[in-house]
Amino acid sequence: MSAVAERLTGGQRVALHYFAAAVVLFAAQTFFGIIAGLQFVTPELFYGVLDFSVNRMVHINAMVVWLLYGFIGSVYWLIEDEAGTELVGLKLARLNFWVLTAAVTVVVLVYLLVQVGAGTRLSIWLINEGREYIEAPRWADIGIVVCMLVFFYNVAATFMKGRWSGISGVLVLDLVGLAGIYLAGMFFTPNVSLDQHWWWWVIHLWVEATWEVLVGCIMAWGLMKTLGTSRRIVTTWLYIEVAMMLGSGILGLGHHYFWIGTPEYWLGIGGFFSALEPIPLVAMVVHAVYDSGRHGFKSTNHPALAWFIAHAFGNFFGAGVWGFMQTLPQINLYTHGTQWTSSHGHLAFFGAYVTINVAMIYMALQKWRGDVWMSGDLPDRGFKWKWSLALTNLGMLGMTVALLIAGYQQSFLERAVGGSTWGAFFAAQLDPWFVQAMVWRNVFGMVFTLGVMLLIWDFVTIGRGERRPMRAAAQSA
Ligand code: HEM
Ligand code: HEM
Ligand SMILES: [Fe+2]
Repeated sequence: MSAVAERLTGGQRVALHYFAAAVVLFAAQTFFGIIAGLQFVTPELFYGVLDFSVNRMVHINAMVVWLLYGFIGSVYWLIEDEAGTELVGLKLARLNFWVLTAAVTVVVLVYLLVQVGAGTRLSIWLINEGREYIEAPRWADIGIVVCMLVFFYNVAATFMKGRWSGISGVLVLDLVGLAGIYLAGMFFTPNVSLDQHWWWWVIHLWVEATWEVLVGCIMAWGLMKTLGTSRRIVTTWLYIEVAMMLGSGILGLGHHYFWIGTPEYWLGIGGFFSALEPIPLVAMVVHAVYDSGRHGFKSTNHPALAWFIAHAFGNFFGAGVWGFMQTLPQINLYTHGTQWTSSHGHLAFFGAYVTINVAMIYMALQKWRGDVWMSGDLPDRGFKWKWSLALTNLGMLGMTVALLIAGYQQSFLERAVGGSTWGAFFAAQLDPWFVQAMVWRNVFGMVFTLGVMLLIWDFVTIGRGERRPMRAAAQSA
């Protein structure tokens, strides 16, 4: 412990807690995903014990929460380096972690223990608020807001005490948006259109605006550290990307307002602006690949750089291309809410957000294990990190393609041919292509799970017993 204490700053030790909890929740997400996938083809599996609705909820809530844990961990990891000073509230940060984690545990236990029952005002407060992805009951909502405020204070005050930079300025402003938008998902209105209208503020403006900007900041820092890219270059890219991201992402929100009872002008606004959203994602790919190429892919940390690059491509394909496919109202009319949506949801969340968190965890592990060598030529020949990278990405691609085929059948049979009737819905669900695609989703889900197991094994072992010091980053002119 004392050797670790010397190597790591206070914030970095707190970050390790967040990363550890994130990995546990990632494993849980994968587990519940597998069960939900099996229930698609065998609906009676665990019926009445662990219902699909609960499984699905735990699967996607675990995802949101672990990605947020990963982001908080990443910020605590880099903040003292970036601010050039110590974290102002170290004890507070530690306390915050335990309070948040206890709350998350209680919320999940309640999800699992109280699976059915009446929806009342009381159940909104104590059991489930009923908005997909952010179902946490209201007491936990309020707790989460308090924890985010503590986190925000710690970040902003640390930069205020230390020094500001382009990266930290963008980061702090972004956190205001990220935390502020969460409030839109906290109040209840009996009008479902209104409720959905505000709920999308959280979901869309998180993943297509504030989370994107946050990972832009993390990526900028990560490229400086792994490749030695100059601050001037990463900051310039960051400004360009942020301007384009917010320029298209904010009104792009309209692509969720096509069919929920909002005024018709959203068809045009949503279609137009969201169609522009892939542009900054192209910029991010160019940025990452160009910088890596300039340094001949010589990095201080190969696994981290590989996952940073996976992030750039995953974000572009999962969010940009897969999102674009269904973002025009003329197309979305047919694809809305089919497995096509799920295909995009999986590739985007994995490609954009899982990847960068994994990269940051590798950065953290390197320092934790003593600033050790993590470039080429690792003792196990990089077997674990390479295979886990390959299996998770292959598994996710396979799942994405299977879901796309299922979604295509649904759009065609249920919507185009069947005219969206109830009977057409079931006809599509029973179609052999749909059913087989659901089986293939599970096969690739297993491949993915194997990759996750290998990844966790690598997290536990990489860098242990390594004596060589870390390769220095080549400084760019
Ligand atoms: C990393 C960024 C992104 C993530 C994580 C993400 C994730 C998701 C998820 C999970 C859904 C399903 C929501 C639900 O449960 O109904 C969704 C829906 C959608 N996304 Fe994205 N998305 C991202 C970026 C984009 C981009 C850039 C576009 C457009 C170019 C886009 C277009 C859409 C559309 C049109 C829908 C609605 C699908 C439907 O009508 O069923 N997304 N997204
Ligand atoms: C073992 C691998 C996985 C399996 C078998 C799996 C399975 C599932 C299933 C069955 C659903 C419910 C879909 C529905 O209601 O039609 C679902 C939803 C979802 N999963 Fe996964 N999942 C896996 C991994 C992941 C990963 C790694 C992510 C992202 C980080 C993810 C993100 C999502 C999202 C965003 C949804 C909601 C999609 C929507 O509403 O459109 N899943 N998953
Ligand atoms: Fe969206």
